[in-house]
Amino acid sequence: MYRFKPELRIPGPVPVPTEVLGRMSQPMINHRGKIFKDVFPQVLARLQPLFGTKNPIFMVTGSGTAGMETAVANLVAPDTPVLCLVGGFFGRRWAEICQAYRAKLHVLEFPWGSGIDADQVGDYLKQYPEIEVIFMVHNESSTAVLNDVEAVARARGRSEALLVVDAVSSLGGTPVEMDAWGVDVVVSASQKCLMTPPGTAFIAVSPKAKEFMAKNESGRYYFDLRKYEQFLEKGETPFTPNINNVFALDKALEMLETEGFANVFARHRLMRDMMRAGAKALGLELVVEDKDASPTVTAVKYPEADAFRARIRDTYGVEFAGGQGPFANQIFRVGHMGYATPLDVLTALAVLEIDQKKFGCAVEAAEQVLDRS
Ligand SMILES: Cc1ncc(COP(=O)(O)O)c(C=O)c1O
Repeated sequence: MYRFKPELRIPGPVPVPTEVLGRMSQPMINHRGKIFKDVFPQVLARLQPLFGTKNPIFMVTGSGTAGMETAVANLVAPDTPVLCLVGGFFGRRWAEICQAYRAKLHVLEFPWGSGIDADQVGDYLKQYPEIEVIFMVHNESSTAVLNDVEAVARARGRSEALLVVDAVSSLGGTPVEMDAWGVDVVVSASQKCLMTPPGTAFIAVSPKAKEFMAKNESGRYYFDLRKYEQFLEKGETPFTPNINNVFALDKALEMLETEGFANVFARHRLMRDMMRAGAKALGLELVVEDKDASPTVTAVKYPEADAFRARIRDTYGVEFAGGQGPFANQIFRVGHMGYATPLDVLTALAVLEIDQKKFGCAVEAAEQVLDRS
């Protein structure tokens, strides 16, 4: 009924602030001209604190998956022994991309809805010391699990394996500490916590990963990070970039910097706690235990979840995401990342209350969390 004013509560893309849309609305410019070069390298440098790194960050025009494929294309040759840690849809995507590049693929599966067990990873690496690259997801959007990247990095022990992390739905919403944790490649994307439209991916590369990439003789073209490095020295990208997304990011970063990154992360934790308290107050079961819960998305078990999502979309214009893989029609997911506030969580809970015909309890429980914060 009210689709003309969508309330987008999915785990990306997220609503884009009007200020950001305004910054994008300008005539097209030359991507090899001064205006672009004045903004682009600075924007990438301003992402470094969010990646927790002093390493260079490259931008590829494409979605988050393009960023993932960039990592694989540069690191993996046929028969490169790799280990993919799979606990959901996006962990599986790492494995599919590695397979497409004909890696010697090892997969460690974890139950959907639980965090990656770092001890198991350590044991596996002792058993298969030949593994050269490990791929994992920080925030598994399909299950709403936040994985402990630092623990996995530490669990490598004596293994020299590189660690590659998909931080597509975590970066900008929760700390990512690439250097302190010892991560070699971090991939993220524009349309989640960074509050900008889809279409740009970001890849940070450690010196060790760069060395490894230089030895990889297999073919790559659009995703060849050596080209991106050369062009970044001139403040450019090798191919025509998504120019207006760069201006969007300039403004979005300004907004996040003004709020302060520590406050941004605290806001995401607060929204997680409110959402979880509200769902529990309604007697609903959460997919993920408190210790592994994502600050950017919450997954809730719900009978006939897809019919519920259709009801609230058609009646109120509220859009929740559905379940993927084994969770199809079993759960719904509420995104609370990027341009989202506690009020958005209260709205999401109000819609749930209406569907459950239990008025007040979820909003009240969430309000109490807000009061205590
Ligand atoms: C954790 C994670 N990784 C990767 C992706 C893929 O990103 P894209 O859809 O932009 O290709 C997504 C998108 O939802 C994601 O949430």
